[in-house]
Amino acid sequence: MTDQEGVDWIPPGADISRPSAARIYDYLLGGAHNLAADRDVAQRLEAIQPQVATVARRNRAFLRRVVRFLLDQGIRQFLDLGSGIPTVGNVHEVAQDVDPAAKVVYVDHEPVAVAHSLMLLKGNRHASALEADATDPAAVLASEPVARLLDLGKPVGLLAITLGHYLPPEPDVRGVFAAYRDALAPGSHLALTHLTNDFAVLRDPRVAETMKSTQDHIYPRSRSEVLALFEGFELVEPGLTTSANWRPDRLAAVVDPEEDGLYAGVGVKP
Ligand SMILES: C[S@@+](CC[C@H](N)C(=O)[O-])C[C@H]1O[C@@H](n2cnc3c(N)ncnc32)[C@H](O)[C@@H]1O
Repeated sequence: MTDQEGVDWIPPGADISRPSAARIYDYLLGGAHNLAADRDVAQRLEAIQPQVATVARRNRAFLRRVVRFLLDQGIRQFLDLGSGIPTVGNVHEVAQDVDPAAKVVYVDHEPVAVAHSLMLLKGNRHASALEADATDPAAVLASEPVARLLDLGKPVGLLAITLGHYLPPEPDVRGVFAAYRDALAPGSHLALTHLTNDFAVLRDPRVAETMKSTQDHIYPRSRSEVLALFEGFELVEPGLTTSANWRPDRLAAVVDPEEDGLYAGVGVKP
């Protein structure tokens, strides 16, 4: 299907009338899979907070570092919840660079993100994408790609990178994370980033207000609320910090959390 903007990457039936977090984030990262309505929201966010694209880039850099960290821990299979529109340095690229047989299942509720992921993954026997709501762990875990690609008897890298703050208080977000935890083998890791009002950079209420015009409302959480998502996992060093400050690459400067904005952490299931 080709929409009025002349793009051919919108799958049939996708609701493109409302902007989406996946496409706004793609725009902020300099990607090409976004529409005028998404760019409008992104530009309004940037007008409120000029650092918003920097926060997005730091988050994406955290994602790549954390996948490399998990590979170092021996993880060879990844369940990426809220995976978004694939951009360069996606999870399967980082993982399969280290081990070509590393398995990845991407999960997103946004049809454009999933259609584009499937297109990119054509011919890749070890990675796939699923259109599903991450708040339905039973459906995700029983899905065809998970059954085909992941061995839940072995450790999994569960990624929820900038996912949690899109999940409303109901159904109980802790319960959602706990259901994934319970289904995963000891040695599995949870890696997440999460928006918060604890730090200045994204605290302006106009940020959440602006996102109300999209498919993806946001629910910032406090430090203790984010820590609660790690229940049943042991946080690895340096504990819960912010995205740029979680095991930064050598020589990277420390970033003031007030400017970094997103909580970031990794826990292991004992
Ligand atoms: C900002 S993007 C993050 C992409 C990628 N994880 C990263 O950090 O680079 C957030 C993604 O979460 C997805 N998302 C939001 N709520 C979701 C839900 N309930 N189930 C699945 N995906 C969801 C959005 O569609 C979007 O693609």
